[in-house]
Amino acid sequence: MKSAEASGGTPHPTGLDATLLADPAARRACALLQVDLDAAAWNYRRLCDQLTPGTECAAVVKANGYGLGIERMAPTFARAGARTFFVATIDEGLHLRRVLTETGWPDAAIHVLSGPLPGTERDLLDARLTPVLNSLGDLDRWRAAGKAAGVRPAAALHVDSGMSRLGLPDDEVDRLAADPSPLDEVALAHIMTHLSSADDPGHPENAAQLERFDAALARLPAAPVSFANSSGIFLGPDYHRNLARPGVALYGVNPTPGHPNPMQRVVTLKARILQVRQIDAQRGVGYGASFRAQGPTRIATIGVGYADGLLRHLSNSGHVAVQGRCAPVVGRVSMDSITVDVTEFGANAPVVGDFVDVIGDGHDQDALAEEAGTIGYEMLTALGSRYHRVYTGGGG
Ligand SMILES: Cc1ncc(COP(=O)(O)O)c(C=O)c1O
Repeated sequence: MKSAEASGGTPHPTGLDATLLADPAARRACALLQVDLDAAAWNYRRLCDQLTPGTECAAVVKANGYGLGIERMAPTFARAGARTFFVATIDEGLHLRRVLTETGWPDAAIHVLSGPLPGTERDLLDARLTPVLNSLGDLDRWRAAGKAAGVRPAAALHVDSGMSRLGLPDDEVDRLAADPSPLDEVALAHIMTHLSSADDPGHPENAAQLERFDAALARLPAAPVSFANSSGIFLGPDYHRNLARPGVALYGVNPTPGHPNPMQRVVTLKARILQVRQIDAQRGVGYGASFRAQGPTRIATIGVGYADGLLRHLSNSGHVAVQGRCAPVVGRVSMDSITVDVTEFGANAPVVGDFVDVIGDGHDQDALAEEAGTIGYEMLTALGSRYHRVYTGGGG
């Protein structure tokens, strides 16, 4: 986050850029979610640089741009060079088509991972959405829809190479390999598969999926190939092929767990102190009194809770940064608040209205996720709708 000095604003007593609080809605909010669009664009370009020259880099923007707002994230990636986008659902695709049309990319390719649900074919065709066909049944319905509309509709074909979740199972690949003629009736954008274990480079499933996928490709008609998600990009050129499909790394989550994060942090989450109190030894804190003070203790109540995505698993295990110093979450996470121990701050104890960093320098979404026993993906997509959201940078 830019300092007040760097952005020309007046330093605010809470350490926050005062210009951010010029907006009354920001002043009223219990928490500010700042999204750095320049960092997101930098991340897109960083992934492009990691890829073998000639490999296209798509942007996965499902789940509302991994919780950060598809309306700002998708145009940011488009400005950075993305021309192909992936969403999970048809409604996400319809929304994205509107967003990209309004922002100057009406012809971007939008691929819908969940495929053409029965009865939705016309919606997909009308919005020029490319369904990912996950079964021969999907292929049959999509061909039929194309025929009825008098077009050869665009499609992606998903082959299951080990996830056992979506995509053609082995027996359907066998049938299609024996008679690939149904594929003549669609314009095949790519054949794809999805890695189950790319975040663990030593996992034997990576090589096994590579082998199974190559075996399937050798038996199917030639088409562009899409393989890697964020972590897959870092597995090396064997996984790059024609089109990579990164999501989470674009938003700053580390695609190489256990190693330094090659991405820039996109999210900063600042929340306000609602009340500070002194409690005596043995006094309980929060629901279930799951924390008991061992001595005189100063508790700050922060205005962000599980309704805002601060998972309940952070109870008695999470941390926030107060004045740049670590302060532990004590007691259970409530719907709208958490309680942190600020005894250590003595005379410099924070006061009502001060901001603390829930996600920030030295404590990113991955660190918070680990404290919650989860992953950065869940942390970001769980972020609630109550934050005052501030987008910085142009993402150009
Ligand atoms: C099929 C598919 N491709 C690509 C992605 C993007 O993966 P990641 O966010 O790990 O980069 C996902 C995300 O779940 C996916 O389901």
